[in-house]
Amino acid sequence: MNEVHLEEVAIINTLLEQLDNKMNFELFSKNLQKLLEHMKDHFSSEEELMKEVQYPSLQMHKADHDKVLNQTRYAEMQWRNKKDEDEIREYLEENIMPWLDQHIKAMDVPMADFVLSVKHI
Ligand SMILES: [Fe+2]
Repeated sequence: MNEVHLEEVAIINTLLEQLDNKMNFELFSKNLQKLLEHMKDHFSSEEELMKEVQYPSLQMHKADHDKVLNQTRYAEMQWRNKKDEDEIREYLEENIMPWLDQHIKAMDVPMADFVLSVKHI
């Protein structure tokens, strides 16, 4: 589970580096798409796992996923329309990064503990 998050952090760091280095629009946009895809896959695999073990806080956890996914979709759309580098940088640095940190501590860690306690894997 942690590795998946590290992959997300790696994609976000790549995006921030690209902004620093004035990379081209297409390449940056592609990586932003990659981040969205990665988040979608990651969240749905967590949700499957929570269903499988009948995790009591599934709805709350899923709602947190849906919220950030919608915000990221919106940020991506704004980027495509406006190409505003400051705006997308602010989103990555001040929204997604702190969200990830907070979500891991508040939701993913307790979920992982629960899964381990029922699955003994
Ligand atoms: Fe999660």
